[in-house]
Amino acid sequence: MNNLLTLITAATMTLTVSANNRENAPIYKNQKAPIEQRVNDLLSRMTLEEKVGQMNQFVGLEHIRENSKTMSAADLATNTASAFYPGISDKDVANWTRQGLIGSFLHVLTLEEANELQLLNMKSRLKIPLIIGIDAIHGNAKCQNNTVYPTNIGLASSFDVDMAYKIARQTALEMRAMNMQWTFNPNIEVARDPRWGRCGETYGEDTYLVTQMGVATVKGYQRNMDTDQDVLACIKHFCGGTPVNGTNGAPADLSERTLREVFFPPYIAGVKAGAMSLMTAHNELNGIPCHTNKWLMQDLLRNEWGYKGFIVSDWMDIEHCVDQHHTAKDDKDAFYQSIMAGMDMHMHGLEWQENVCALVREGKIKESRIDESVRRILDIKFRLGLFEHPYGNVKIRDKVINNLEHKQTALEATRNSIVLLKNANGLLPLDASKYKKVLVTGINANDQNIMGDWSEPQPENKVSTVLKGLQQIEPNTHFEFVDQGWDPRNMDPKKVDEAVAKAKDCDLNIVCCGEYMMRFRWTERTSGEDTDRDNLDLVGLQNDLIKRIYESGKPTILVIISGHPLSVTWAAEHLDAIINAWEPGQFGGQAIAEILYGKVNPSAKLAMTMPRSVGQIQSIYNHKPSAFFHPVVCGTSEPLYPFGFGLSYTTYKYSDLILDKTNIQKDGNVKASVTITNNGSRDGVEIAQLYIHDIVASAERPVKELKDFKRVYLKAGESKIVEFTITPDKLAFYDKNMHYCVEPGDFEVLIGGSSRNTDEIKAKFTVDE
Ligand code: BGC
Repeated sequence: MNNLLTLITAATMTLTVSANNRENAPIYKNQKAPIEQRVNDLLSRMTLEEKVGQMNQFVGLEHIRENSKTMSAADLATNTASAFYPGISDKDVANWTRQGLIGSFLHVLTLEEANELQLLNMKSRLKIPLIIGIDAIHGNAKCQNNTVYPTNIGLASSFDVDMAYKIARQTALEMRAMNMQWTFNPNIEVARDPRWGRCGETYGEDTYLVTQMGVATVKGYQRNMDTDQDVLACIKHFCGGTPVNGTNGAPADLSERTLREVFFPPYIAGVKAGAMSLMTAHNELNGIPCHTNKWLMQDLLRNEWGYKGFIVSDWMDIEHCVDQHHTAKDDKDAFYQSIMAGMDMHMHGLEWQENVCALVREGKIKESRIDESVRRILDIKFRLGLFEHPYGNVKIRDKVINNLEHKQTALEATRNSIVLLKNANGLLPLDASKYKKVLVTGINANDQNIMGDWSEPQPENKVSTVLKGLQQIEPNTHFEFVDQGWDPRNMDPKKVDEAVAKAKDCDLNIVCCGEYMMRFRWTERTSGEDTDRDNLDLVGLQNDLIKRIYESGKPTILVIISGHPLSVTWAAEHLDAIINAWEPGQFGGQAIAEILYGKVNPSAKLAMTMPRSVGQIQSIYNHKPSAFFHPVVCGTSEPLYPFGFGLSYTTYKYSDLILDKTNIQKDGNVKASVTITNNGSRDGVEIAQLYIHDIVASAERPVKELKDFKRVYLKAGESKIVEFTITPDKLAFYDKNMHYCVEPGDFEVLIGGSSRNTDEIKAKFTVDE
């Protein structure tokens, strides 16, 4: 470590010296020269091999070292899935770095390693700094001691766009302090299938909400991307969202209408917000893999939407055109197709360098095409100040990561992301004087899993589990804990019996159930990336646990920890209270306890519908009117809890919906104002939602669509008038000829506290011919 620091100091001095000798230095090293000139100068000095290397990523050396210790001989020889390069050691990768043949790394988890890699790279001929990427999806949670915020689905459930910006900004600071400059977030896919294990890293099922959260996040990471405090955002995965059966990477068969109405708007907005990197999706879209899809990468993204950044592949997905999609005969063919369709960077691996160089030498790909991609990548490296600041510093890191301000933000975001779904007989908030002895059990009662997918285990004292949160918030209550282990698939029936026996002598039961998402136990998880479900029930003995504890006759509360909606239909019918905490992050336990004991009044609303059963899928609030033309038999199409739903410890009344006009022209605006009254005895925040319904249109329109929302703080008894402006973009759609326009006719405005009709009041206006 000391050696590394000495080397870094020496390398920094070299940088300073070269800055002092600026007159002799090449233009690309001159910080004051315009970026375009620096890029052109550098490009003119690069060999083909160096250029192709800039377009390639590798996983970090420690990742390779770690895997080579734990993988079997058979896996070492053949398996690429855990990012081990068969037949290649960390030394080879270090050598290529020294030769300037690698442009980027991912899966680098420490500042020390990031510095080590940059230092190796500084031995290369042109010393082009690496850009180090990481999935900082909810804070830089894969790295030790960085702040772990709630995952995107929880953040979306707070409907707090300013908070999304703030978290992105803090994450950018933590990342730069770790010497990492590129986050593979935000995931702006619209999640319409709750079986999909990745719902938790999205902002849910609604296009408008996804767009607002995505834009704020991009802006928070990047700002103008011109300082060493900003990081590169990556909007992804273009264009997935509804894989068949909800399984990650499965084909997506979507009409152009659905793509343009539902899935593209967040990308268009992300491009407009300045996102400078974009990742393509694993899946094929209408038959063409996204990684070789010219329509997506060039026709739409660059030509129609004006995207200026670079495109990165997902994890070896270009290669998957060979073994998964069967649209390329070998890797070389797949690379050819991908580059010609618009790909700029390859995540990650061995086959790229030689094959792509060969394609250029054989005249199949012009070097000018390679230059286009390299230019985009170098531009970002200059803008991020990497040439001037290739190293991070331990002292700064220790000041920045998980500091008090960031912790407070994480706690506040978590409090605002937890959804209260049921509260019968006013059980909540709990009266501590009434419940002296409380049973706490379930797989998620005392496990780091509370942080969610995309986090690595963190130091114990940093993570508030439900049990720890309860003990902290109510130190005078006796919490009787029965450990059910972390593994829902292997619960011990004896521990279930033990909890059931204890429930009889307790005054109240808190059962913490849900999914298991921690990625360090990749194959044992029940949710998360590459971990999809064929039903939405609780796994293992969890239902049994809940039912038998309920039979104790004592009030029973269910706390759900899961990144995707679960069909807890039995619990919803029987238990007294249900809290859906999503994947709440490092302060999950504290925030849950604060809500249970009423220190915090819950305000979040579901960013995804919770269906009653897997058979209700696709269960989205903004379905077409004919979706339920014929009612299902022996059941209902009403979901368990709809999008936008969430309770509070107070109640809000919506009244006096007034539109300033009842007739407008196609380019006109309507102002809608509504009075919201806090009818209860507690202060709270209400998330007021505005939906629009186009009553008669030339193509079938959804029953309603979210078009605006506001978080409104109301003191007990207080009323406020809240205003929304309905602009033409909130009325426009693709008509029967796929022409984007506002059609004349009647529109309904629905405003309320959820997407459910009974929670809304409405008014009507007309767009005149
Ligand atoms: C995921 C991406 C992620 C990448 C790098 C892939 O498996 O699909 O979302 O950014 O891995 O970790």
